[in-house]
Amino acid sequence: MGLMSGKRVVIFGVANKRSIAWGIAQAILREGGQLALNYQNDRMEESVRKLAADLPSDTFLAPCDVTVEGDIQKFFTKLGADFGPIDGLVHSIAFAKREELGGQFIDTSWDGYQLAQHVSAWSLIGLAKGAMPLMEGRDGSIVCLSYYGAEKVVTNYNVMGVAKAALEASTRYLANDIGPRGIRVNAISAGPIKTVSAMGVADFGTLLETMAQKAPLRRNIDQGDVGNTAAFLLSDLARGITGQTIYVDAGYSIMGM
Ligand SMILES: NC(=O)c1ccc[n+]([C@@H]2O[C@H](COP(=O)([O-])OP(=O)(O)OC[C@H]3O[C@@H](n4cnc5c(N)ncnc54)[C@H](O)[C@@H]3O)[C@@H](O)[C@H]2O)c1
Repeated sequence: MGLMSGKRVVIFGVANKRSIAWGIAQAILREGGQLALNYQNDRMEESVRKLAADLPSDTFLAPCDVTVEGDIQKFFTKLGADFGPIDGLVHSIAFAKREELGGQFIDTSWDGYQLAQHVSAWSLIGLAKGAMPLMEGRDGSIVCLSYYGAEKVVTNYNVMGVAKAALEASTRYLANDIGPRGIRVNAISAGPIKTVSAMGVADFGTLLETMAQKAPLRRNIDQGDVGNTAAFLLSDLARGITGQTIYVDAGYSIMGM
């Protein structure tokens, strides 16, 4: 019996095979879980449907753009009707304009700031609220994806660092709010991984090189490393853990000089 046997998890953020969300989906399936996925919009639908074609036939799939008014509610209404109750929610989405992910932080626009916060931080609250009724009485677990730039300055990460700081704080506030209902909320702070979103950060290659040279494990991490940790946090093995940010970064974050 797998770690996720009997667990039903909705994952937001699969765009392609490189997505961290896809690594998480693979780990959940391997451990015997059942999946529901979103795709962001019409443009993403075809690629996500192609990926989903290789998944078990009971996999649920529906659109949801977290910035579109009513989309979150529509998604969970359909999920409740067609898929039923859930035990887990994975938030693996983020967005900032390319021009905000390079140059000086002081040049951050209000528009760019709002958009980064909306997609990358507020959406955790929106999705958690949407998921709550479907998790009622099921000891649910929510997992989101953060990065070291939330707590330390990482060149070019800029507005996304502030959004991730909000995401990690939201993880703690949500954990306190919904803990009494048996639902846990944790963040994974993942090391850099080459994905479509990551390539939007100027000079991203330097982050990968630095990590491989300086991290205690002297390597980069991959989607599988994050997927395994997510499966653990979603499983009953982690039933005593909530409100935490767990590092999956080959140890990079412990280093000083
Ligand atoms: N790749 C890294 O180095 C790294 C490191 C730490 C944390 N993360 C985080 O991991 C998560 C997943 O990113 P990824 O690297 O797998 O990239 P990705 O590009 O594969 O995934 C990003 C996802 O966000 C979704 N998204 C963007 N705007 C959205 C919106 N308005 N509504 C709904 N969905 C929307 C996209 O559709 C996509 O599926 C993000 O939160 C990212 O910040 C990434």
